[in-house]
Amino acid sequence: MSGQHTLPDLPYPYEALEPFISRQIMELHHKKHHQTYVNSLNAAEQAYAKASTPKERIALQSALKFNGGGHINHSLFWKNLAGAKSEGRGNGGALQDGPLKDAILKTFGSFDVFKKTFNATTAGIQGSGWGWLGVNPTNSQLEIVTTANQDPLLTHVPVIGVDVWEHAFYLQYLNVKADYLNAIWNVINFEEAEKRYKEATGK
Ligand SMILES: [Fe+2]
Repeated sequence: MSGQHTLPDLPYPYEALEPFISRQIMELHHKKHHQTYVNSLNAAEQAYAKASTPKERIALQSALKFNGGGHINHSLFWKNLAGAKSEGRGNGGALQDGPLKDAILKTFGSFDVFKKTFNATTAGIQGSGWGWLGVNPTNSQLEIVTTANQDPLLTHVPVIGVDVWEHAFYLQYLNVKADYLNAIWNVINFEEAEKRYKEATGK
């Protein structure tokens, strides 16, 4: 059925990612921004179901892509964050021994180089978009890629996605995107990332 998408609950309280991502950002980002993508996707799907001509359906494509991508991306994003281990709030930021760590070290040389490469690539997004660590399905390699606007990642299987829209950081980091990108590694849920990596590679 079309138009039945709902806002997923966060898997942690709004303040769980502090001090790296503020409660205020998380509440607005989840309750307002993500909810709006859900509402607009439902409206676009309902309109599509009622559309009777190709022209009417074509006119709805951009709304379906933008709001559908927004819903998909944010649903992934909440799960790929966790309270910081350094703050005693969870396992965020901790990359444990295992297949994902092995692949990151093999691909990038070190955890630090991986994070720096990811941040440099992601900081280069012009306008709004997303930074991704994904598995390339043609060779099972880890690669860092970006998508514009709310485009979902279709070329790779997403392992980690980072929202680099200003709404994700501006209230706390103002215009300094680099500070947000440095801070977020403290709250990346590498257990969730490893789960996605294993599913993508069959490891
Ligand atoms: Fe967002």
